[in-house]
Amino acid sequence: MPDEATTQETYPPPPDLARDAVAQPELYARADADRLAFWADQARTLLDWETDFTQTLDWDRAPFARWFVGGRLNVAHNCVDRHVEAGNGDRVAIHWEGEPGDRRTITYADLARDVRRCANALEGLGVKAGDRVALYLPMIPEAVVAMLACARIGAPHSVVFGGFSADALRNRVDDAEAVVVVTADGGYRRGAAAPLKASVDEALGDPARGGRSVRSVLVVRRTGQDVAWTEGRDVWWHDVVDGASEEHEAQAFDAEHPLYILYTSGTTGKPKGILHTSGGYLTGAAYTHRNVFDVRPETDVYWCAADIGWVTGHSYIVYGPLANGVTQVMYEGTPDTPTRERWWEVVERYGVTLLYTAPTTVRTFMKWGADLLSGHDLSSLRLLGSVGEPINPEAWGWYRRHVGSDRTPVVDTWWQTETGSIMISPLPGITTTKPGSAQRPLPGISAAVLDDTGAPVADGQAGYLVLTEPWPSMLRGIWGDDDRYVETYWSRFPGRYFAGDGARLDEDGDVWLLGRVDDVMNVSGHRLSTAEIESALVSHPSVAEAAVVGAADDTTGQAVCAFVILRADAARAVSGEGDEADAAALVKELRDHVAREISPIAKPRQVLVVAELPKTRSGKIMRRLLRDVAEGREAGDVTTLADSSVMGTIRAGLQGPA
Ligand code: WTA
Repeated sequence: MPDEATTQETYPPPPDLARDAVAQPELYARADADRLAFWADQARTLLDWETDFTQTLDWDRAPFARWFVGGRLNVAHNCVDRHVEAGNGDRVAIHWEGEPGDRRTITYADLARDVRRCANALEGLGVKAGDRVALYLPMIPEAVVAMLACARIGAPHSVVFGGFSADALRNRVDDAEAVVVVTADGGYRRGAAAPLKASVDEALGDPARGGRSVRSVLVVRRTGQDVAWTEGRDVWWHDVVDGASEEHEAQAFDAEHPLYILYTSGTTGKPKGILHTSGGYLTGAAYTHRNVFDVRPETDVYWCAADIGWVTGHSYIVYGPLANGVTQVMYEGTPDTPTRERWWEVVERYGVTLLYTAPTTVRTFMKWGADLLSGHDLSSLRLLGSVGEPINPEAWGWYRRHVGSDRTPVVDTWWQTETGSIMISPLPGITTTKPGSAQRPLPGISAAVLDDTGAPVADGQAGYLVLTEPWPSMLRGIWGDDDRYVETYWSRFPGRYFAGDGARLDEDGDVWLLGRVDDVMNVSGHRLSTAEIESALVSHPSVAEAAVVGAADDTTGQAVCAFVILRADAARAVSGEGDEADAAALVKELRDHVAREISPIAKPRQVLVVAELPKTRSGKIMRRLLRDVAEGREAGDVTTLADSSVMGTIRAGLQGPA
């Protein structure tokens, strides 16, 4: 059978799943009949409230929403303690596997105890409700424990992906004014111990540069590597958490109490602190996790292979699955360590039933070849999910055929850091799936595709994706910047949430995502801002000007391509005869510079040194034309360029040694 699924092929749900899936067609009917009553019902059914809410939605100050007004709950109690109280303390919460092969089995009772200890330890460090705590950790159970301990005491966490640089960490710590940073000596990646504490030291080391709000650094010993120690500031996790009391009274917080801030790239250089609150967010995470993944907590083994540093890790490793009391797998490292069969060993070892990953990972496995899967028993798998970027039909088909033995439904889930939980996705027992389409808004979610004027497009047409009604897990704002919140999301089409994605409706009205319509790139499912990488490049002494575009890439979806104009002295140094080696060294240095300033994820695939950049008469860089160059096409319409010869100059300049 060929690996290419055509867009005409459709896959009805397996009959047994259609019969007994968690989500049945009446879910759509109930939500359509009374959307707010539907959400109130979900909130009350899925969560334990200390005080019931009196109003489902207060939208009077739109776009600033309040959901489940008057309700009070403790998020950590909902994710752990209540399962223990219900008699499920012995159920495994996390089968954890470290990259070097070490393993831990953590039951709900274990997790409850660890969270209580950590909550006591954080309070011992002076953390109070409302204080922010930054987390900079590898994929170890302590990351989950620390997030839930913060939730338990009402201290919003700000998780910073462990792959981010010291500078990126400092900016995020400063923006949130975090009082504690929780980190580890290091974590394992690709067989090596990568340092984390050293970056924290660098981020906080020079008070003139920032980090002044931080009073304590709580350090998990993971790799055992040497770390520098600042007396009075640094404390070991094994000293203050392991010895802390196991008793901790969970206080209930208002439904709108901030739960976390998570920074994500926008169209400007400054990352946005997306704010999520408690009751609505947890309702959205639990509801979508349960229905989209058809979760049966007694029998399923769920594995979301994301990092806790991204929203997928927040909603679908921590809050959704734990609120639903499911057993899950958590894996620290990369899929090729020690061999390219690591994932399939993990699936086999734990009998994973539900798998959630990103298209870029599926494409990597495709490249490595299906043979690597054939020696493993993957028959436990019953459902596969995809997230992070549009999934091409070929990857979708390969995923279903080779990972899912051509039996399992594949759910392509569209959502964002801002939406908090899945918005558009098939439901596995209901939807006849189409490879490459996220299909329909979930029950309770209202979406539309609009043209430039804000009118809905007809079936068969493309436009801008918007959400037309507020939803419980929606962001409540951008940390410290209400204006930017209104401007970024609610002003392009007043009254509607502008997602920044293009989408097409097919003849059946199903949604096909087309990628970003703004200056945000999507590389391996990671959101990167062109402006942020440009400003990293111009911070290098050799660079006068930079323009960055996302160019199509077979594996990563998009790749970062940078066009730079050098400062005169640097340009002279690399322009002479026989200076190709110098030029190559400079390009390498610029790529490394971006990796250091932001993260290795942001490292440009290519840096092209050019003499000029294409600009409009008003001075705006025409990235569309640079994308044409980066993707090896003839440049499109150049009539709005201030100087129409620029594209010729760029091409001529690039003819030389690449
Ligand atoms: C993209 C990740 C197509 C989209 C959960 C969105 C997708 C951005 C899909 C959010 C999908 C996510 N199909 N595109 N199934 N899922 N995206 O905030 O461009 O890291 O705006 O959240 O990823 O990225 P974020």
